[in-house]
Amino acid sequence: MTHTQQAAAASHLFEPARLGGLGLANRLVMAPLTRNRATADGVPGELMVTHYAQRASAGLIIAEGTTPNAVGRTYPHIPGIHSPEQIAGWRRVTDAVRAASGRSHMFLQLQHGGRVGHPDTSGHIPLAPSAVRFPEMLPTPKGLQSAVAPREMSARDIKSTIADFAAAARNAVEAGFAGVEVHSANGHLLHQFLAGNTNRRTDEWGGSAADRTRFTVEVVRAVAEAVGPERVGVRISPGAGVNSIEEGDTEGIYAALLPALARIAPVYLHVVHADPDQPLFSRIREDWPGTLIANPVLSREEAAADGGMRRGERLLAEGAELIALGRGFLANPDLVERLRTGSPLNEIRPEFLMHVHGAEGYNDYPLLARI
Ligand SMILES: Cc1cc2nc3c(=O)[nH]c(=O)nc-3n(C[C@H](O)[C@H](O)[C@H](O)COP(=O)(O)O)c2cc1C
Repeated sequence: MTHTQQAAAASHLFEPARLGGLGLANRLVMAPLTRNRATADGVPGELMVTHYAQRASAGLIIAEGTTPNAVGRTYPHIPGIHSPEQIAGWRRVTDAVRAASGRSHMFLQLQHGGRVGHPDTSGHIPLAPSAVRFPEMLPTPKGLQSAVAPREMSARDIKSTIADFAAAARNAVEAGFAGVEVHSANGHLLHQFLAGNTNRRTDEWGGSAADRTRFTVEVVRAVAEAVGPERVGVRISPGAGVNSIEEGDTEGIYAALLPALARIAPVYLHVVHADPDQPLFSRIREDWPGTLIANPVLSREEAAADGGMRRGERLLAEGAELIALGRGFLANPDLVERLRTGSPLNEIRPEFLMHVHGAEGYNDYPLLARI
């Protein structure tokens, strides 16, 4: 046995775990990965059926950011969960994964882009907490374009968006998902409410850090009422500046958010950039009474050295229950087996990562060769 194989044999990552009522085969979670392989109408097809079925050995699969309504669409060819065709498409995906693994272990990430969206993609002026334009370029069906200024959401828009999240969660359960992940991370709509640079509101949905958390809390509450808290997870990315987000008072935001969410008792909290050497991580672990999924976000060197095994083990030791990996699962359909046996990993082919729509660089990452 090599050193890597010995480490893998002793690892807790491959032990079975529970998530609410679900039995998971191991503690490795496939992180949500937008891959733009749905149809132009956001319907998952054969490509996505194959992709997720190939990755069925993950302990839990969190399927990619999926829009709860038309205006929340970020990019071309991302899936939705608000039309009968989309529900039927996702049903084929969850059926295939269940057939491959014998388990029900898929959550669907509900992602509303807010200001990260374009009328040429969604057919709508984007909605956001405030009319603060997204300063980056966006892929659209007509190529890369500057974002347009979003429309500030009215009280009515806020109410209907919350209702759309609840309806999307019901649709996801109808499509065979064990639950949904509410996306309050990475600069999308819910994170735009949390962050100071994108939320300039002076009503009850903005202002103090606590008021800025209200939208995320109300979305999670509505979704939990719709499908039950044991079917709801929440993703956060405290302190991360993805999609030009500047939270401002990171500590204040999460000190207000976590206890409010804990009262609703979603089945997990999923933290991006989980780092046990940062005081924020210990505070989150202390403030969160439920299951914690930690996504370490690997450096190139860490990914190349051991695929995230050491980071994952350390996070389990520091109180996380499950470890989410993104790019590892993207390039290795059999990531669990490769890590367990200390086998080499495939390299990502970055040219096929996003905003391309075929099987190439998506479903043709090879399995370990059998001897
Ligand atoms: C191609 C790609 C697409 C992604 N799409 C999403 C997404 O839809 N929702 C989300 O919350 N994060 C998304 N992420 C972030 C990943 O979930 C994860 O946080 C990130 O890849 C870091 O984890 P890793 O080091 O294991 O790859 C995406 C990342 C990549 C590389």
